[in-house]
Amino acid sequence: MYTDTKLEEEIAAIDLMGPEPSDEHSRELYYIGKLRTLIAERSKEAGRLLTACTVTFGCQMNARDSEKLIGILVQSGFAPVETEEADFVIFNTCTVRDNADQRTFGRLGRISHLKKKNPYMKVAICGCMMQEKGNVDKVRKSYPFVDLIFGTHNIYRFAQYLWEVYSTDKKATHIWEKTDQIVENLPVERKFSYKSGINIMFGCDNFCSYCIVPYVRGRERSRDPREILRETESLAQDGVREIMLLGQNVNSYGKGLENPITFAELLDEVCKVDGIRRVRFMTPHPKDLSYDLIRVIRDNPKAARHVHLPLQSGSDRILKRMNRHYTKEQFIELALKIREEIPDVSITTDIIVGFPGETAEDIEDTLDVIRRVGFDNAYTFIYSPRRGTPAARMEDQVPEDVVKEGFNKVLTAVQESARTRSAALAGRVMEGLVEEVNSQKEGYVTCRLSNNMIVHVPGDASLIGRFVPVLLEECRGFYYFGRIVEE
Ligand code: SAH
Ligand code: SF4
Ligand code: F3S
Repeated sequence: MYTDTKLEEEIAAIDLMGPEPSDEHSRELYYIGKLRTLIAERSKEAGRLLTACTVTFGCQMNARDSEKLIGILVQSGFAPVETEEADFVIFNTCTVRDNADQRTFGRLGRISHLKKKNPYMKVAICGCMMQEKGNVDKVRKSYPFVDLIFGTHNIYRFAQYLWEVYSTDKKATHIWEKTDQIVENLPVERKFSYKSGINIMFGCDNFCSYCIVPYVRGRERSRDPREILRETESLAQDGVREIMLLGQNVNSYGKGLENPITFAELLDEVCKVDGIRRVRFMTPHPKDLSYDLIRVIRDNPKAARHVHLPLQSGSDRILKRMNRHYTKEQFIELALKIREEIPDVSITTDIIVGFPGETAEDIEDTLDVIRRVGFDNAYTFIYSPRRGTPAARMEDQVPEDVVKEGFNKVLTAVQESARTRSAALAGRVMEGLVEEVNSQKEGYVTCRLSNNMIVHVPGDASLIGRFVPVLLEECRGFYYFGRIVEE
């Protein structure tokens, strides 16, 4: 992360009239420097500051990538806005399930009329969907107004691509098959002043048989722990109090590094950074969540009392076909161990219903896990076949009506479990971080507890970013209404 002065010094040291520098980091700054003149000229021509907007789909990692995209745009001279009626709109896409693809195409379709009205407007699309050739072809054919397409592996080249489409006014497509690069210290524009994600690794090597992520995000690469700590310290100095360490499978963190380090060790180090008050992480894989990690969370008050532990299915037969490498009983044992060691911890999960070959009996196993673990919350997904994955080629795809029935059963069970777990906290006073003004209920703000639960309390915008003791008064399923009490 950057202080602006450092960025300015670095850009000033580059000869913007000379050839492009060869190292990736300087090259991006070189193009940012060049864009500043060009975008200022365009803004002058338009008689207003050109604006830019990112539209983000998918997971926390995509949200973090979008902060990097907007960071480059702001440094290049665009004013950030929240509306698609902007001069530059970039869609950062997700392809984990088919409905993610459909939502993107829907939004993209609606934008074409904006482009007709605004001669300065340019549209870009990047992210996981673009790593699928069929999607790139479809964008080129059905949405010919799109100016720039790139993928996940070359996102750090964004400034260069931006320069290309603005300096030539031509369309550009840049898709790479893979990368082994991690480019550090590019500008970032955070969405929240008080909290931030931090990438600790990229890609995934697990190849769960239903999942597209390893194909679109490539092989696992861990960031150097010194870079992660430096970023944490710099965020803390900039006022960030809560961070979330991000990776598709954080337990594999550190493999392949020059000096291998475990995720538990990294978490311990990150918790030591002054100024940081809460540390979260997403996502651990149940197959290799170590006892060391449980111990580090237990012994570190800064580590959030929350573990998101994706179950996917409770049936051994389905888990095997999913390539998950754990059994129902191993999962339950792990979850109960976490509960036993870390008082007040909340455990949330992801469940897929309708995986090929899933029967009513398999669903019973999933329901059994839900009842025995008592999840504090869960995301339930209908299985969506993804092209190129082993599961999509399995013959026994489940008919829609059977899936619906199973889905409703699972949903009812997780709602029941979330309600019971949440209700047990009534009357407690817990520390909440005030995140935002409540858009639904006037005079209220929304807090997040260490266990990830949401509590709505009376208050105003001046509280945003503050840690406050909140009394949990009225349970509404998996969230609460409450109030701030005296410290
Ligand atoms: N790396 C994380 C999350 C990846 S995607 C993990 O291992 O848990 C987030 C969730 O989307 C997954 O946990 C899974 O429940 C769901 N998911 C992934 N692929 C899916 C598919 N093809 N159909 C339905 N749900 C899927
Ligand atoms: Fe997908 Fe499995 Fe990797 Fe998670 S661990 S991203 S579900 S392949
Ligand atoms: Fe989606 Fe890509 Fe994340 S497919 S879930 S945005 S890694």
